[in-house]
Amino acid sequence: LLLQMGPDALLNMILRKCPNQRSAGDVEVIYEELLHVKAVSHLSTSVRKELAAVLVFESHAKAGTVSDGPAILCAVISVFSQGDKGTSWYIIWKGSVNVITHGKGLVTSLHEGEDFGQLALVNDAPRAATIILREDNCHFLRVDKSDFIRILKDVEANTVRLEEHGKVVLVLEKSSGLGSPHLGGSGSSSKYTVMSGTPEKILEHLLETIKLDTNGSDPIGAISTIVIHVLATSSSHSKCSCLLHSSAQLYSINIPSVLLSDPSPSTAPPPPQLLPFQSSCPRAAHSTFTPPPSLPAPAAAGPSAIPEPTHSFVLPPGVFLLNPRLTYHAEPSEGSELEKTAYALNTKQKVVKLVGQWVALYGPLLKDDPVAVHFLEKLREEVMGDSRLSSILKEQLKDRRKTKVQENGCQTVTKMNQKFDWFAAHEEPLVKVRIRARDKVMYEIYRPDHKAVSLVLPVDSSVQDIMSVLVNPGGDHVMVKMNSSGETVQLKLDATAVSASLGLNERLFLCTASQVQELVPLKEQLGPEQSTTDALEQMCSKDIATQLTNYDWELFTAMHEVELVHYTFGRQKFPGATTANLERFMRHFNALQYWVVTELCLCEDLTRRSTLLKKFIKIAIVLKEQKNLNAFFAVMFGLSNSAVQRLCGTWERVPNKTRRIYCAYERLLDPSRNHRAYRLAVAKLNPPYIPFMPLLLKDMTFIHEGNKNYTDNLVNFEKMRMIAKTMKIVRGCRSQPYVPSSPQKGLTERMFVDAPALRISTSPSCPDSLRRSDSDQSLTVRNTGNIRHYIQNLKVIDNQKKLTQLSRAIER
Ligand code: CMP
Repeated sequence: LLLQMGPDALLNMILRKCPNQRSAGDVEVIYEELLHVKAVSHLSTSVRKELAAVLVFESHAKAGTVSDGPAILCAVISVFSQGDKGTSWYIIWKGSVNVITHGKGLVTSLHEGEDFGQLALVNDAPRAATIILREDNCHFLRVDKSDFIRILKDVEANTVRLEEHGKVVLVLEKSSGLGSPHLGGSGSSSKYTVMSGTPEKILEHLLETIKLDTNGSDPIGAISTIVIHVLATSSSHSKCSCLLHSSAQLYSINIPSVLLSDPSPSTAPPPPQLLPFQSSCPRAAHSTFTPPPSLPAPAAAGPSAIPEPTHSFVLPPGVFLLNPRLTYHAEPSEGSELEKTAYALNTKQKVVKLVGQWVALYGPLLKDDPVAVHFLEKLREEVMGDSRLSSILKEQLKDRRKTKVQENGCQTVTKMNQKFDWFAAHEEPLVKVRIRARDKVMYEIYRPDHKAVSLVLPVDSSVQDIMSVLVNPGGDHVMVKMNSSGETVQLKLDATAVSASLGLNERLFLCTASQVQELVPLKEQLGPEQSTTDALEQMCSKDIATQLTNYDWELFTAMHEVELVHYTFGRQKFPGATTANLERFMRHFNALQYWVVTELCLCEDLTRRSTLLKKFIKIAIVLKEQKNLNAFFAVMFGLSNSAVQRLCGTWERVPNKTRRIYCAYERLLDPSRNHRAYRLAVAKLNPPYIPFMPLLLKDMTFIHEGNKNYTDNLVNFEKMRMIAKTMKIVRGCRSQPYVPSSPQKGLTERMFVDAPALRISTSPSCPDSLRRSDSDQSLTVRNTGNIRHYIQNLKVIDNQKKLTQLSRAIER
């Protein structure tokens, strides 16, 4: 009988055998056939052989018949439904299937040789789509989960491209080994991570892979990382009423606007036409939407019976699924009522969890955005009406309060409000020094004769705003910034926040265009003429370092993480954003460097200078001990400045022991192998600590400049993940509360202990006496104020030429 059988019949018979009854010859026959199957053609011989031994033949007789309107719902023959637990991977042996997702309907069709169902297996997530037979009598080769994981887990560079309407919408790549922390834990050793995709599809995938059962031990870590980028990359730069998108647009990486000023904007996909968020009439919102003409028409067979195809530019799931009336669409078309309700609830819970993470990420910054506030209020009403949803948020809040650590490193004590408040656990940290974009600050504007005008205007005022207060518009006045060497840069009228971004010893001048050439720097820009050695001699190195760390910690925590993104991508691309806190922190870093050089070069007496040099080395030692790496680097850079290094006579007088320590520390500055020495040292540190910020900014810039925002018209999510990784370093540094030292306590016990919330005094007292004795407690307390005042008002020479001249003058 076997001999009489044709090859197809023989193969069919072998395939229908139970895998454990297949002979070696049978497996060989299947293996030969697999060579022609597209879904496995990229796999190695051994992997294909293993698959041949385990795959199971599965046949489905009847194609689906679904109504084309909600009224006549008939049975749908699906292989599985969206939201189901994933148990197998399928290769289409014969026939074709439709891929249907909630809210979008038919997204694509798959044909003979293609495969589906791998995502749920690898990511341990529910099925991302419903698979419906497109024709009668479809045959599949099924591989069950355990075999799939076992056989395919080591396959390198396995890429999955999900298509919708003929266009790739999501590219996932298998990351072997430790499994990415980014998309929830699956327990399997490999998973697919998002490489690129449309914002909507990335968000959809994120919602599918979010785990509700994992509690918030890392409430603002992994998921938020994605939130920021998914929401951030939402492509909408028109004033659309899709609230989630709009708020994302205002607060994060707004890719389209970045691309607007990109040299190659042609690579950017067109912004999606988002549907208005019409909670009152969701159906209408759906029906008024007309897909762009480029969309392919629904396939002829089968799909006519499937809910009307929509496409990826429909409302993002976040908003879509939260609307109670839209939830109809979120329900699976199959399954019992109970299953449908459970699925819809599960999805809503995930959305609520996601938004909760998003709020945790941005914190009170969102309160400044009316669109976000409105969105959150609407969502709050939804959530409050359903205890199963509000419990998700309560869990998150509880977890956050348990850790008692505010994301910016400051403790916050919150009471659980009766009336739910998104920001209950994210109250403005007790950092009073945070500058917000609309805060009013003093602008000092100088005229060519050095007379100053002071204006109080918002931080983010434009040059035009400032000038319109002082001169008639349309005149020939210009605004320039000038540094201490007299170099000028004319500011564009639309430049904003110019005061916040001024460099050290830079000043703003207003003059006519013809006067620019004649401008000379102010005396104060040139820096001090006398050293402050007298004062410094009265302060002990430890106290100086401690006050530096206290102050740096304030500046460091005043900076919102998102400022790093705005700074890297260009603040002007984010309306309403400020980078003033980051810039202030960096300015202080520069001031510290020049302070060291200035003081040493202005100190004419050799003995006092060498004592001062020793003091700066001691300060660096304590700063490192205190884990203030930023200030440590600043002081060390100051010491390694050529104007200081050439002072041989001074260095000779520094005790050998101190010099040896200095040399050991110098190695941390070594930039070779991408600052390996520093990176290794910092990897061992526990929070809280202050990182070397310029290196973080350099990393961010490298990532930004070395990677495109889009790859093949899809958001380059891999780049976003790299940016997030760097930002998470900052988050990690501040994940434990830092308690500023008080002079009453010993250094080690007072540095990093879990104690009451940090309160910051913004107006340091400035007692007149600088004299103190270490044993005199009351003087020590007063001196703390002095030191603090001193380090907040460092007067420096930032002109290298002048510093070199001074250095030559004191030591030939
Ligand atoms: P899984 O989530 O396991 O189950 C549904 C499958 O549909 C999914 O894996 C993919 O293999 C497949 N699929 C194909 N195109 C899409 C798409 N655009 N969105 C979601 N799933 C898709």
